[in-house]
Amino acid sequence: MNRPFSPETLAAQALGDVDASGAIIPSIPVTTTYLRDPDNQYRSGLSYGRPDNAIVRHGERLLAELEQGSEALFFGSGMAAATAVFQALRPGDHVVAPTVMYWSLRNWLRGPASDWGLKIDFLDTSDLTALAAALRPGSTKLVWLETPANPLWTVTDIAAAAEIAHKAGARLAVDSTAATPVLTQPLTRGADIVMHSATTYLNGHTDVLAGALVTRVKDEAWTRLTGIRTYQGGVLGPFEAALLLRGMRTLYLRVRQACASARNLAERLSAHPQVSAVLYPGLGTHPGHAVAAKQMRGGFGGMMSIRAKGGERHAIAAAAAVRLWKRATSLGGVESLIEHRASVEGPGTPAPADLLRLSVGIEDAEDLYADLSEALTRAA
Ligand SMILES: Cc1ncc(COP(=O)(O)O)c(C=O)c1O
Repeated sequence: MNRPFSPETLAAQALGDVDASGAIIPSIPVTTTYLRDPDNQYRSGLSYGRPDNAIVRHGERLLAELEQGSEALFFGSGMAAATAVFQALRPGDHVVAPTVMYWSLRNWLRGPASDWGLKIDFLDTSDLTALAAALRPGSTKLVWLETPANPLWTVTDIAAAAEIAHKAGARLAVDSTAATPVLTQPLTRGADIVMHSATTYLNGHTDVLAGALVTRVKDEAWTRLTGIRTYQGGVLGPFEAALLLRGMRTLYLRVRQACASARNLAERLSAHPQVSAVLYPGLGTHPGHAVAAKQMRGGFGGMMSIRAKGGERHAIAAAAAVRLWKRATSLGGVESLIEHRASVEGPGTPAPADLLRLSVGIEDAEDLYADLSEALTRAA
């Protein structure tokens, strides 16, 4: 057989690596330093724990394959990965970012990153005319997208945004946490960098904080980024890397199940008398549906938001009334989570006060629907 293995196969076997002992599962190298060769070289390619750990590199190779990129870097969290992309820029550089995006990164961009000297414009990146108008050729160095984007699941056309960014001499980075490499591969659509909170779907079991970047090409900007991770030390530890590698083996199964259940729930919740709106890119009513249908393959993800008919009080009471869903922040785990998003994000959030964010896990969809439906009715 000489056709390349599919991503499902590569993920299930974590690239199929078997070490010299014959171990199917890689061991966890806990060392922080490595022996130098007598002739003063480091032929193993490993010298010190901050840049070098074999199991971290193993996971990075797997993710680079799944995203069809040329190299990946793992970080200690999604935020460490995302902020490194901006820290690789220079004070005075202009950046465009979405108004609807992961709130903690938005707050970091508004605060420390702006104080440091980045000039940041926030706009609706799904509006390609507005995006093109916001770019300043020569000074815009980066366009940051998140698609689908927290918590309204706004969808941006990656290929069109890449064309606009590149025409202005800017690079395109995409937070693809919610889409996962199962559904979208931004690098194949022209993005330069893809970012993941590996805490979520890639690991999938709510027991590891991790982040990742993958690059389309190993260029000067990537070398700068690699240096930033090594200097700042926001690396992933070997134990976390081992858990993450285990989680990634079941990525395709988990994401496909979450997609199927989310679609089922989105359709049924749309007809629920206590729900005024369902925000899910898989529904024809979602403003981003057509673009999502074009750039997401095999499903629309496990994330959605619903708006409670009775407003903020109703939303909070419904989240309090569930028995099966877990009332917690985060997403992408095997267990389903519900949260009142405005309470998490605070002032300046684009989340309406009546919005509940749902991360659909892999439990029985019937159980999930019954629990949420009853909670919405009881809380009305
Ligand atoms: C879309 C998105 N980006 C970034 C992050 C930040 O990741 P982390 O919490 O791993 O730092 C998250 C966290 O949930 C996220 O959902």
